[in-house]
Amino acid sequence: MADLETHDYDVLIVGAGGAGLSAAIKASGAGVRVGVICKSLLGKAHTVMAEGGVAAAMANVDERDSWKVHFADTMRGGQYLNHPRMAELHAKEAPDRVRELESWGALFDRTKDGKILQRNFGGHRYPRLAHVGDRTGLEMIRTLQDHGIHQGINFHMECTVFRLIKAGDRVAGAFCYEREKGRFKVFRAGAVVLATGGFGRAFKVTSNSWEYTGDGHTLAYDAGAELVDMEFIQFHPTGMVWPPSVRGILVTEGVRGEGGILKNSDGKRFMFDDIPENYRGQTADSENEGWRYTQGDRNARRPPELLTRDHVARCIMRQIKEGKGSPHGGVYLDIAWIKEHLPNAREHIKKKLPSMYHQFKELAGIDITVEPMEVGPTTHYAMGGIHVDGDTQMSNVPGLFAAGECAAGLHGANRLGGNSLSDLLVFGSRAGEYAAAFAREQSPAAIAQQELDRLAEEALAPLERFDSAPKDADGPYQIQYALQEKMQSHVGIVRLEHEMAEALETLEALKAKAAAVAAYGNREYNPGWHTALDLHNLLTVAEAATRAGIERKESRGAHFREDYPEKSEAFAKVNIVISKGADGAMNLRQVPVKPLTGEQQAIIKENA
Ligand code: FUM
Repeated sequence: MADLETHDYDVLIVGAGGAGLSAAIKASGAGVRVGVICKSLLGKAHTVMAEGGVAAAMANVDERDSWKVHFADTMRGGQYLNHPRMAELHAKEAPDRVRELESWGALFDRTKDGKILQRNFGGHRYPRLAHVGDRTGLEMIRTLQDHGIHQGINFHMECTVFRLIKAGDRVAGAFCYEREKGRFKVFRAGAVVLATGGFGRAFKVTSNSWEYTGDGHTLAYDAGAELVDMEFIQFHPTGMVWPPSVRGILVTEGVRGEGGILKNSDGKRFMFDDIPENYRGQTADSENEGWRYTQGDRNARRPPELLTRDHVARCIMRQIKEGKGSPHGGVYLDIAWIKEHLPNAREHIKKKLPSMYHQFKELAGIDITVEPMEVGPTTHYAMGGIHVDGDTQMSNVPGLFAAGECAAGLHGANRLGGNSLSDLLVFGSRAGEYAAAFAREQSPAAIAQQELDRLAEEALAPLERFDSAPKDADGPYQIQYALQEKMQSHVGIVRLEHEMAEALETLEALKAKAAAVAAYGNREYNPGWHTALDLHNLLTVAEAATRAGIERKESRGAHFREDYPEKSEAFAKVNIVISKGADGAMNLRQVPVKPLTGEQQAIIKENA
């Protein structure tokens, strides 16, 4: 173990997206030593895939907005499985976090009178998304990164956490490998904040890039933390479907927020055909009314394209199944049609949606100011994740915190667009604050050399096995593809008990293969070896999502079961919590949702 590099921090943050950076800035502001590990290069994070805006009830465009309406919208979107305390804190604190970001240099689009401009998004009653064209996540990362760099935070790039290390009950650090040279590193810390994002890579079609393999979820689970709401996976209605190399790349909801409409191959605006009961009174019943809403008419109701993502994604799937899709297996998203209303439509689209304009021009040869886009659902976001305390973001493992997508609670059964960016600002900051306070109270934990040797041996096993492995055994990529195929076809937008059971069998078989997988080559930049190590994480989150999907025998939010197409009273008030048993088995239990306070109940009633 001569090459083992050791670092000591008070707070160690795993992940450098918006949540990780927010946590790091807050913790370092509290005067503790902070280290940030990121799997990729700094700045490359799924945060940039939240393009259309950050949700915060600043009431800059419509003064009727308030934290109470935002809270009620978030709870309704999440079908009341949300952690109500988190939904309240989020709605209350998001405006301050956005203003703080602005004070650090974020350049938001402006209203005519110079305030931060806010746009419409699905499920938000008023225009609420502060935005920077369609590059909001990117601007947020740039700002947090610039600010963080000057806070004395140490960054360790291209470094992957293999396992967390514990001292007794509490977390004491992390054992990592460096991607470039394959060297091992040990980080000792008083507290660890996981901010590793989601697990879109467990599916074949996804907006997530290669890093998102459920690392934080699995690190926490293996360390004894609970997972919750794992059955709820968000399929964003609009990803690119063509050409195949870019399938799944996000097409921001901002397109619909700016007036984009969905059509089938008959040219029909099919979203008018299916308005869910609980949104009926609030949804436009004519094209004209929908357009007026987009233009800020306060007497108009929102167009049906701005219903919640779960619903829009299912309506799109139905069109495709009925043979009314586009040539490459999607439907049409048309923003060019606004020229019927706006004389300067072309310039308007390019100004409001510059990235979408370039994305389609460069990748698909389509000019979106003239032609419709072809789009279809893409795996985008995990509502489920590490079960945390609503105020502090600490898991049930002392010293282990989580924030952003890898934590759960705020979004319940379905997340509203834009609530991810505000989530990571609000709860990233909170995690940083409480992790710093926790770390201050800890004395350094001793980490046994034996434990480090064991972890190194485990990490190197796929390389060591190569010479003796059967030549026809599946390699890491084959196992990963098989997992993605199965999850996409059997645990996707529409689910059935027998298909999920079949998926579990496949996952069991893949687990056996992964335990014996071999990787060719040496430790120096070796993606095959890294993929072999990611498999454990992918298999863990895939199993958790599938088991929870089987357990929830109803349809709610993002979880749609064709065999139980209705909501069920029995599941209306339970979260499914998952923990690792002493025998290594995955244990599921139904836990009553956190009760609403009297004030919260009144707010929801008032804003129904
Ligand atoms: O459509 C989008 O711009 C994505 C936003 C989000 O996921 O919050």
